[in-house]
Amino acid sequence: MAAVVWARCFSRAWLCRRAGLGCGRHYRAALCAELKQPLAIEEVAPRPVQPHEVRVDVHFCGVNFADILACCGQYQERLHLPFTPGMEFSGTVLETGRDVSTVKEGDRVIGVSAFNGMAEECVIDQKRLWQIPESVPLREAATLPISYGTAILALEHRACTQPGETVLVTAAAGATGLAVIDVATNVLQAKVIAAAGSDEKCKLAMQRGAQSSVNYSQGSLKEAVEKLVGSGGVNVVVDTVGGDVFLEALRSLAWEGRIVVVGFAGGTIASVPANLLLLKNVSAMGVYWGRYRDQNFPLFSGILSSAVQYCQQRRIQPHIGAVFKLEEVRCS
Ligand SMILES: NC(=O)c1ccc[n+]([C@@H]2O[C@H](COP(=O)([O-])OP(=O)(O)OC[C@H]3O[C@@H](n4cnc5c(N)ncnc54)[C@H](OP(=O)(O)O)[C@@H]3O)[C@@H](O)[C@H]2O)c1
Repeated sequence: MAAVVWARCFSRAWLCRRAGLGCGRHYRAALCAELKQPLAIEEVAPRPVQPHEVRVDVHFCGVNFADILACCGQYQERLHLPFTPGMEFSGTVLETGRDVSTVKEGDRVIGVSAFNGMAEECVIDQKRLWQIPESVPLREAATLPISYGTAILALEHRACTQPGETVLVTAAAGATGLAVIDVATNVLQAKVIAAAGSDEKCKLAMQRGAQSSVNYSQGSLKEAVEKLVGSGGVNVVVDTVGGDVFLEALRSLAWEGRIVVVGFAGGTIASVPANLLLLKNVSAMGVYWGRYRDQNFPLFSGILSSAVQYCQQRRIQPHIGAVFKLEEVRCS
């Protein structure tokens, strides 16, 4: 489930006094200096903003599966050590470069960075900031880019989910899974079957809007789904687990069903039996949220704006499983 790091756990004044001796604007950042080791909290000297850049006072930063992979050296993009994790954050604008026209000092913003978010400040290109209205709380805003961006991309853009269709989501109580339930149910008026690895996770998924649930640690996912929807199957699958869970979900699809590969949390990448695609005219497709930023920025930006709008309209309500202070990221 979604978690955020709260960067503003001490007042800036406290920090200034502590940094002292003429370096009054030092700020604290989480630092991964060695892979698979606890993060350190370091005081960092701020760098000047470039003409196109913005300095943001970070209030909350999303904690994502990708941060954990990166800190273990298992993320698809290798990072040079040391680095500061954190790919999505929310806060207020402190300073703008001379060419910045999109935001001004004091604006409330969401930032999407290639890491660096788990700190009290982040300097970022203006193109990677989205303004948010007063009615969207900064805490919830920090969870919108990745979980909700991925859910909207998978359900709307890739699978073209229609009202009344049935969506099966795996790891349903994870951050992506809960966002999929929220968007599918409350925005797209689809029916959701939540599949998860424990009764407790199934219960949470049901509380968040799923119509029914399957605990796949207790037997065959395909058989359980068949009991719920009959042999007709489900229209859309969003899978973040991979391996056998993916294969059973693929076999649960209806005629012209769509399965969207989002992740491999279980650690195994399944091969797609092509005959299954042919037999039921099924489509298998992938979503890599971060690549849309480079390949189709208007779509990437539009989807984040949609997430902000849905949140403002209270059509979606991000579930935050835990909030940690910045210094708590030291834990391994
Ligand atoms: N393609 C993209 O753009 C994109 C975007 C966001 C996330 N992802 C990927 O999607 C996956 C889920 O992300 P998330 O943010 O939802 O993560 P999360 O909140 O940490 O949830 C992960 C869930 O995966 C399931 N899981 C199964 N085997 C696991 C294992 N060996 N270790 C840990 N979890 C395991 C667990 O649910 P059960 O116990 O219910 O199985 C767990 O609750 C990750 O692989 C992530 O990298 C991809």
